[in-house]
Amino acid sequence: MTADIIDGIGHKQAAIDAAVRILKDGLPVALPTETVYGLAADATNPAAITRIYETKGRPRFNPLICHMADLTMAERHAEFDAISKKLAETFWPGPLTLILPLRQEGRRIHPLATAGLDTVGIRVPKGFSAELIAALDRPLAAPSANTSGKISPTSARHVADDLGEKLTLIIDGGAAPVGVESTILRVEGGVITLLRPGGLSVEDIEAATGLTVERREGPAAIIEAPGMLASHYAPGAAVRLNARHVEAGEALIRLGGVPIEGMEQAKAVFDLSPSGDLSEAAANLFDYLSQADATGAERIAVTAIPSQGLGEAINDRLVRAAAPRE
Ligand code: TXA
Ligand code: MG
Repeated sequence: MTADIIDGIGHKQAAIDAAVRILKDGLPVALPTETVYGLAADATNPAAITRIYETKGRPRFNPLICHMADLTMAERHAEFDAISKKLAETFWPGPLTLILPLRQEGRRIHPLATAGLDTVGIRVPKGFSAELIAALDRPLAAPSANTSGKISPTSARHVADDLGEKLTLIIDGGAAPVGVESTILRVEGGVITLLRPGGLSVEDIEAATGLTVERREGPAAIIEAPGMLASHYAPGAAVRLNARHVEAGEALIRLGGVPIEGMEQAKAVFDLSPSGDLSEAAANLFDYLSQADATGAERIAVTAIPSQGLGEAINDRLVRAAAPRE
């Protein structure tokens, strides 16, 4: 089996029709979201959800994000406290996932999607996926469309290279504009906790709510968002962080056009954003990591990245990419 790739921009309606057909058959479809490409399946169909775990090789204790068409649909499945509601109204559709208590009555999201938890991670994506969900009229469980532990895909090509042999359909929506996964928040007792930094910056969340976002570091964060295993987003090559020079055999990822000692001997040089813009850097991060990996370099050296704005998400992913492998 090799996946068909349909142009979701030029042939949007045909792409939606084809995706609806396959999803109703209980099969997953890879599709574009503004953050990264997702591997989507009907969140109410256990056989379809099982296919997601199998296709990714993902542990089943790791719950999936459920994507909704809009806030109204989300409220049918989860209970919103006032702060979560305000966050949803401000930032959806967009790169924000909220962990919310599942509604007990009328509940249709299958426990396989939530790994049996009494909470559900919900996000309303922008563009193609939201239109598809509205057409299907069911939530879509969708993790990133990559083999578990590998770099998340930001283009249809990335998905095809990794999972093309295991899928029937990939929708091509062009390069994912945000480039890192959604920010995951949980609100409890009036406190907002950051479970995963992502495409929505903490600064923007604090400005919209007037509240301070709590960060949960270390093992607690890993338990709360079980997918946050230490070694994640791993390219084949080793990754060396905060590099101030390049060693023989390394590829270099840098930022802002800053010259780096020894860079003339790098196997390849990638600049995440020549102007030093961290949103642009996030959009390029996974693509440049996989391109650097494809040079065959034994190690990828990455210069220090500032931690404000989307820099927090970039650094989170880089630390995981550099973590010791199992
Ligand atoms: O941008 C994104 O979020 C992308 C696109 C496709 O939407 N999706 C994505 O999904 O990154 P995934 O499965 O790779 O990451 C979801 C994370 C995992 O770390 C998982 O453990 C956590 O969300 N999660 C999901 N449901 C949860 C829940 N009920 N409680 C705690 N963590 C949850
Ligand atoms: Mg993922």
